Amino acid sequence: MNSYRPDALIASDISAYLTLHQNKSLLRFITCGSVDDGKSTLIGRLLYDSKMIFEDQLASLEADSKRVGTQGQEIDFALLVDGLAAEREQGITIDVAYRFFSTEKRKFIVADTPGHEQYTRNMVTGASTADLAIILIDARKGVLTQTRRHSYLAHLLGIRHIVVAVNKMDLIGYDQAAYQAIVDDYREFAKSIGIQDFTPIPLSGFKGDNVTGPSANTPWYAGPALLEHLEQVDVEVDTDRTRPFRLPVQWVNRPNLDFRGFAGLIASGVVKPGDAVRILPSGRTTSVARIVAMDGDRDEAGAGESVTLTLADEVDCSRGDVIAAADAPPQVADQFKATIVWMDQAELLPGRAYWLKLGTQTVSVTVREPEYTIDVNTLANAPAKTLKLNDIGVAEIAADRGIVFAPYADSHDLGGFILIDKATNATVAAGMLHHALRRAQNVHWQAIEITREAHAAQKGQQARLLWFTGLSGSGKSTIANLVEKKLHAMGKHSFLLDGDNVRHGLNRDLSFTDADRVENIRRVGEVARLMTDAGLIVLTAFISPFRAEREMVRAMLPPGDFFEIFIDTPIAEAERRDPKGLYRKARAGEIANFTGISSPYEAPERPEIRIDTTKETPEAAAERIVETIMGTWSPVI
Ligand code: ADX
Repeated sequence: MNSYRPDALIASDISAYLTLHQNKSLLRFITCGSVDDGKSTLIGRLLYDSKMIFEDQLASLEADSKRVGTQGQEIDFALLVDGLAAEREQGITIDVAYRFFSTEKRKFIVADTPGHEQYTRNMVTGASTADLAIILIDARKGVLTQTRRHSYLAHLLGIRHIVVAVNKMDLIGYDQAAYQAIVDDYREFAKSIGIQDFTPIPLSGFKGDNVTGPSANTPWYAGPALLEHLEQVDVEVDTDRTRPFRLPVQWVNRPNLDFRGFAGLIASGVVKPGDAVRILPSGRTTSVARIVAMDGDRDEAGAGESVTLTLADEVDCSRGDVIAAADAPPQVADQFKATIVWMDQAELLPGRAYWLKLGTQTVSVTVREPEYTIDVNTLANAPAKTLKLNDIGVAEIAADRGIVFAPYADSHDLGGFILIDKATNATVAAGMLHHALRRAQNVHWQAIEITREAHAAQKGQQARLLWFTGLSGSGKSTIANLVEKKLHAMGKHSFLLDGDNVRHGLNRDLSFTDADRVENIRRVGEVARLMTDAGLIVLTAFISPFRAEREMVRAMLPPGDFFEIFIDTPIAEAERRDPKGLYRKARAGEIANFTGISSPYEAPERPEIRIDTTKETPEAAAERIVETIMGTWSPVI
């Protein structure tokens, strides 16, 4: 049966493969190295020598090797691995590719990660599930920046086993002293980042020395060959079973009214029918009724197994919740300290809302300005205002609700997360939670007895937030002022927060960079929200150029209370009016980051009200806004 394919794998392949070799233990490993370290050749050699290639694939490989050129070998092992067309064309490896092979003793999944600096993302993706990392070093070059970077990441991601493969030994004449110097060099670096132990192996992927068996060319080396080591290394799979029980719920299985099962992969521990469990984050307790598996009910299930549990009581439990041992539950918190690896071209905007995905849980979070970033070459900490592509930094994260978590050091499943851009859906970062902030644990939401409805009712109105957005000079302040005058004349209680004014006080520390604009709107949103809690009709006049922050403010309020009012004035018209002479200055290069000229404006897609100031007078616009707002009040008032 075929269990090797030269192209990247898909999930169904993985499960088919695992079923095929289910009685052997599994080692997941990653290979990291620079482009020319000979990584693909080495993996190709492992696959070839473990005889997992079929005749027909061999034949096509030989044909390919002839076509592309073989550096003097009959078979170019790199071709075997560099299965992606783009890789072949560019001569570099550009994505994570998972490949399988197996020997008599063990089955393997290898994530082949590229060596290019900009591809940290792929390394992180591959490393997050790996038990072991092979760090490749070119014997002619020794320890490089890449070596340090990859080792640091591997350690950060919690990979417990590191193999330092000193490759291309044939090119330095199998020189023991040179090998030893590289190992000593690496040891010193490893110690400095907290890697306690690693296995160095002198080898040649090209010639096959110490890859699957001992080499006559290195009589001075008494350790195992690479494949022997991979077969033997103890990956401590069982330690997960001794930890407290945790099952992140992936989905609720409800085929009919008589059955309600909670399905997921057991992250740690062991569970038996009758065990007392706690559902988090709600904290409700119950006990396990049945463990349902594909082949019938089970008496016990443990870490790494996918099961469906039924519970003794009808408790609320849905996707994203965690079922845990009742007497040793994981923590629930909404503010954390985390290490974040930034993987997107667009830099982190502190204060912007991103999706955080942790196992089966998804919450909205904001990241604060990083405390520092870590230079992986010098390991020095540097102060930073943001995180750019490939940066690794430590920052605080605040979620909009509590999540069930464990420190990454204790559980990769409950401590590892990714961040997703809400607008583009791109994964922008990966990270590790360290601990909850005390602040989060000790500040509780104070239940207030006079509600926002009571505040508003006393004023004979309903609280609203009228959010004016548009270019500088579009007419936001003018129209907002007119609206407020009308409300005031009607005896309504209102307050107008205006960009220029707020920037003189509360936000005087903020500039016009993207990051500062995000923070500007976050603060204004919080203030406006509090004012609506006081029962006021709040009007805000800020350019608020980004959709993400306008949506964030919308989400802070009860549905229906937020009105996005787009003052739609074309840039040419705003520039012609130029009420404050700012466009002229911006064109002359005297103002940086000017909206519409050197900084973007993202127009609302579905505003509640749109005002075209080239067609409607400010007076008519104000009238229409007031009518629209009052029209949404419930008749009681
Ligand atoms: S926002 O983008 O962060 O929402 P805000 O509404 O607070 O901006 O401030 C915009 C006002 O600041 C403009 O009306 C203008 O008077 C002034 N301003 C000064 N510099 C700039 C700039 N670079 N871009 C836009 N507005 C600026």
